[in-house]
Amino acid sequence: MKIDNIKKICVIGAGNMGHQIALCTALAGFQVRCTDISQDMLNKAEDFTRTYLPERVAKGKIPQAQADQALSNLSFTQNLEEAAGEADFVIEAAVEIMDIKRKLFADLDRIAPPHAILATNSSFIVSSKIADATKRPDKVCNMHFFNPALVMKLVEVVKGPHTSIETVQVTMDLCTKLGKNGVLLKKEIYGFLVNRILSALHHEALFLADMGIASPEEIDMAVTNALGHPMGPFRLMDFTGIDLSYYIGMERYRETGDPKDKPSPLVIEKFFKGEYGKKTKKGFYSYE
Ligand SMILES: NC(=O)c1ccc[n+]([C@@H]2O[C@H](COP(=O)([O-])OP(=O)(O)OC[C@H]3O[C@@H](n4cnc5c(N)ncnc54)[C@H](O)[C@@H]3O)[C@@H](O)[C@H]2O)c1
Repeated sequence: MKIDNIKKICVIGAGNMGHQIALCTALAGFQVRCTDISQDMLNKAEDFTRTYLPERVAKGKIPQAQADQALSNLSFTQNLEEAAGEADFVIEAAVEIMDIKRKLFADLDRIAPPHAILATNSSFIVSSKIADATKRPDKVCNMHFFNPALVMKLVEVVKGPHTSIETVQVTMDLCTKLGKNGVLLKKEIYGFLVNRILSALHHEALFLADMGIASPEEIDMAVTNALGHPMGPFRLMDFTGIDLSYYIGMERYRETGDPKDKPSPLVIEKFFKGEYGKKTKKGFYSYE
């Protein structure tokens, strides 16, 4: 298969990542169906699309015709069969829980056409943990976007031992079609490139806050002022979702059994209070 054979894309999940990946692919001219188990999330994604596109046109960032085309290219449905039944390429951006992803990939294998590539946007889970839930492991890979997906240029494409060269090539070509810079990881590694580097920083920042050495605000201020990062680690966790940090830690801990992989006490506390960050209007900071 070649990139020119990819016409229809299915995006699974309409959360933080999925709604923007769906719009990004629709803006690039693909016919896109975005699905989620939550009708509320689908409604929010559709509302976002209807607000975002006219704003981009008004700012002169995209022509009206492209906005009109993207709007007609993109549809939302709760029905997985409807979303993936004709897809040439599926990007899974559902919640970071292994069992949910494995179940989704098994369902997608049954529903999507045999030629379809099934990619996961997981932040940490390598596709070999999921590919064996399908009968097409050669067509399974990681395609990892960054948040916000409409803005961030980098996409990590990870080749698993099961992934064919053709799948990797089409996925890298898709990055280019989306106006992204694809970076290919030739071997699987937990956390890929960027999140491995970021995790080291977050681990240290959480340790310092947990020890009471400085507050999250002070640590963020230190990182932005001294290291020149646009956002400190706590502000960034609020943005990406403290629930995601919790799930990532728990998935890793389940796998390694190493207590140092557990989410930090601060993350556990926020998770159980339901303070996930921007999406719940409260995390390390308040967004009322
Ligand atoms: N948040 C980030 O900054 C970020 C960045 C890169 C990658 N990711 C990855 O993207 C994925 C999604 O993360 P997110 O932050 O968008 O999460 P999110 O919680 O904002 O959204 C996840 C969505 O998945 C939906 N969902 C759950 N089970 C489903 C199912 N069986 N079928 C369809 N939809 C289902 C939920 O209803 C929710 O709307 C995760 O794998 C995460 O690791 C997140």
